[in-house]
Amino acid sequence: AKNVGILAMEIYFPPTFVQQEALEAHDGASKGKYTIGLGQDGMAFCTEVEDVISMSLTAVTSLLEKYKIDPKQIGRLEVGSETVIDKSKSIKTFLMPIFEERGNTDIEGVDSTNACYGGTAALLNCVNWVESSSWDGRYGLVVCTDSAVYAEGPARPTGGAAAIAMLIGPDAPISFESKFRGSHMSHAYDFYKPNLTSEYPVVDGRLSQTCYLMALDSCYKSFCHKYVRTEVQETVSIFLYDYGSQFSPHVASTFDYRYERLEGKQFSLSDADYFIFHSPYNKLVQKSFARLLFNDFLRNASSVDAIAKEKLGPFSTLTGDESFQSRELEKASQQASKPLYDAKVQPTTLVPKQVGNTYTASLYAAFASLIHNKHSELAGKRVVLFSYGSGLTATMFSLRLHEGRHPFSLSNISTVMHVAGKLESRHEVTLALSVLEIIKYSSTTMQNSKVIPLPAMPLSFGFCCVIQHDQLFTPKKFVETLKLMENRYGAKDFVTSKDSSLLSPGTYYLTEVDSMYRRFYAQK
Ligand code: ACO
Repeated sequence: AKNVGILAMEIYFPPTFVQQEALEAHDGASKGKYTIGLGQDGMAFCTEVEDVISMSLTAVTSLLEKYKIDPKQIGRLEVGSETVIDKSKSIKTFLMPIFEERGNTDIEGVDSTNACYGGTAALLNCVNWVESSSWDGRYGLVVCTDSAVYAEGPARPTGGAAAIAMLIGPDAPISFESKFRGSHMSHAYDFYKPNLTSEYPVVDGRLSQTCYLMALDSCYKSFCHKYVRTEVQETVSIFLYDYGSQFSPHVASTFDYRYERLEGKQFSLSDADYFIFHSPYNKLVQKSFARLLFNDFLRNASSVDAIAKEKLGPFSTLTGDESFQSRELEKASQQASKPLYDAKVQPTTLVPKQVGNTYTASLYAAFASLIHNKHSELAGKRVVLFSYGSGLTATMFSLRLHEGRHPFSLSNISTVMHVAGKLESRHEVTLALSVLEIIKYSSTTMQNSKVIPLPAMPLSFGFCCVIQHDQLFTPKKFVETLKLMENRYGAKDFVTSKDSSLLSPGTYYLTEVDSMYRRFYAQK
């Protein structure tokens, strides 16, 4: 199979979220710490009716329906997740009813787990399967699904929740440049989940940042090393002359020899159009891209202009370890890389900034942002992605984009994912209120509500307004929800509120966990 890669994508995130600005105030953090310091705008979270299984059921059914894929056409299903619901039964098996209904139980693949890297492991497995001799001609399907929640403290604003489904096959608009991959795997205790009674990780935030940046450095070095281009074809004329001997006359001839030369051209930031990073919070993405520019600077690569060289010059003699510790270098390289960051990274940041860290889905949520923002300009472009999972595992890999053919085209993927619509629907008009109601709401439960008058409304309505949806989820409500979820984690024998009023049609939700821990879901 040729040009194997991603044919189709769908993204789902819960409609419930908190504004980082409001959370900042609620937590008593200094103004700007979460929004500027971490670079985050919003954080989605699951209420008691949603979890990683319901989100992946929603993403998979929506993908199959919107791209008109018969479940019988799926030959491999791989799930990446680090949200443990069952220590034995995979999330993949919870998705099987979708396929069993259509008589398809011949589907390879299970779950992959290592922090935020599981989605990439699942994706590489599927791509390798389609490229292998065991491929049976059907599609692969990858699902990345996570609910990222932290105990109260500095890590809490770096949560999020989402599921992403990706259809894998040949002749894809998003194809892998499989030769260009650099990995870094090592043993570290930066973020892990040893407490099996809690959903929260044990996290050493500072260490996790350093581990992430060191893994990035190492992957970039391997990636650059493997970046060898084979396109250069050359023809040489060879002239042969034999002096002969006393028994044979001399001979001379010329012939042309055409050959393919391996060109070891150095890779630099100039060789890719976009860089996409696993995005726990946007500030780390800014630091990551800056670190790549510093790498290019040390290798004297063409991507570093004179201004950047001048800024980075004072740091050229730092040892590797010193360079990871230097705050001055961090700031100087962020400044030096700003123009390139704006062009090559900024278009990938929308969903991670609005939805938060979605663990295994985070990298692909960033990719979804790029397709959403630039789908009409992406044909022919190269995108380099960096996937990181604490503990630790990391891979940098490269994708080539082509417009593709409907339904597997970049423009259709953008339409199906409907990123802007999904983000906006979190703010959608839900209430039209009378003056009295406005006074009541704005003075009590909805202190943070923004009341927006609708000037276009007919006067006979009196004074009408809307209250933004997100205001229903004040930080207080978010904290209460997390408390409830702490009690529900690993629990049995309960029925949820079954309140699906905030979910859009087609969304799956949890209704019950019975006395045998069996989980039941319904579709709105
Ligand atoms: N206005 C503007 N900026 C501010 C303000 C303010 N009022 N207050 C602080 N800041 C800045 C800080 O200077 C810092 O920026 P810098 O890194 O550029 O210097 C940033 O905000 C964060 O402030 P810190 O004091 O460093 O934050 P803290 O230590 O409290 O927590 C951390 C940050 C460590 C990232 C924490 O949220 C965490 O542990 N998160 C989970 C771990 C994580 O996501 N790791 C990433 C890789 S692993 C993974 O994906 C899970």
